[in-house]
Amino acid sequence: MVAAVRVHQYGGPEVLTYEDIEVGPPGQGQLRIKQHASGVNFIDTYFRMGMYPSPVGLPFVSGNEGAGEVVAVGPGVTEFKVGDRVGYVTALGCYAAERLLAADRAVKLPANITYEQAAAMMLKGMTVEYLVRRTFKVQKGQNVLVHAAAGGVGLILCQWANHLGANVVGTVGSEKKAELAKANGCHHAILYRDEDFVARVKEITDGKLCAVAYDGIGKTTFPATLDCISPLGMFVSFGSASGQIEAFNINILQQKGSLFATRPTLNTYAAKRESLLDIANHLFEVVGSGAVKIPVNQKYPLRDAAKAHRDLEGRATTGSSILLP
Ligand SMILES: NC(=O)c1ccc[n+]([C@@H]2O[C@H](COP(=O)([O-])OP(=O)(O)OC[C@H]3O[C@@H](n4cnc5c(N)ncnc54)[C@H](OP(=O)(O)O)[C@@H]3O)[C@@H](O)[C@H]2O)c1
Repeated sequence: MVAAVRVHQYGGPEVLTYEDIEVGPPGQGQLRIKQHASGVNFIDTYFRMGMYPSPVGLPFVSGNEGAGEVVAVGPGVTEFKVGDRVGYVTALGCYAAERLLAADRAVKLPANITYEQAAAMMLKGMTVEYLVRRTFKVQKGQNVLVHAAAGGVGLILCQWANHLGANVVGTVGSEKKAELAKANGCHHAILYRDEDFVARVKEITDGKLCAVAYDGIGKTTFPATLDCISPLGMFVSFGSASGQIEAFNINILQQKGSLFATRPTLNTYAAKRESLLDIANHLFEVVGSGAVKIPVNQKYPLRDAAKAHRDLEGRATTGSSILLP
């Protein structure tokens, strides 16, 4: 039996139940992983509350990002052996001391990437890779808007966009978060709880607005974010921390300047194994070179997963959070 955090019924953080579970031997194409750390992500809260239905029904082990060592290898696996260090993103199963994992979702970690870094970045950092290099290719000199710039994805996104030469404009919920965002590549931080962020974006960019807006907030920043984007620019709605954007009239994109809009997810970009490895390798490169740092600003024992969720949803965290078994 191993320790895990399971959800037996959808609900608030209180439904996260710390208990022992049975983990069997790896089946065909699977690895058994001894976890060293699990990442905490906003998507974990969507599954917990049932906004995203669990693909395995109830109960399920929470968590979508982790890192650890291979302790057993199932039949048919040729790419991995016992002792390999791996990181991964996969739907559910991560808040546990040990787990089974499809080998085709595991990525070998380079020696210069720690387990804690990996658990804090496999989902958030690979997301940033596709956001800045695939969904919209950020170019030198472009104005880029990043909502929740001091968050887990936000701090990595600010650094990576800055590394690509962009002028990074971020929104944040407090002065402390503004300082942190600025220390992580954000050139201009807007306190969007107090200031009119559209007016500030216009002012900061001299009326030129932004070539792309990365929005993981959703409900409360829409549709104002569209007014921050220059004609033919792109609205990237990649999350719903404040709730989902409701259906809207597509003509609004024409009125705001023939904008492009997309609602991407890492699952699609990393669906093929070669894409997964390519995205992960780019992430390992920028982190390995020091161009992008992974701030792990909250660490919790696995049994305190509910507190980790309360802090994340209560806007009390910055950077990445991890759980340690
Ligand atoms: N599509 C994908 O592939 C993908 C992958 C990873 C993550 N995501 C999305 O990216 C977003 C960020 O994820 P994360 O895990 O890095 O979280 P996070 O940004 O660390 O935390 C969310 C932040 O959103 C801001 N926020 C604004 N309104 C909020 C509200 N009503 N409730 C809670 N927070 C609010 C808060 O920052 P302030 O206090 O500064 O406002 C909060 O710290 C989420 O929407 C997530 O679903 C998408």
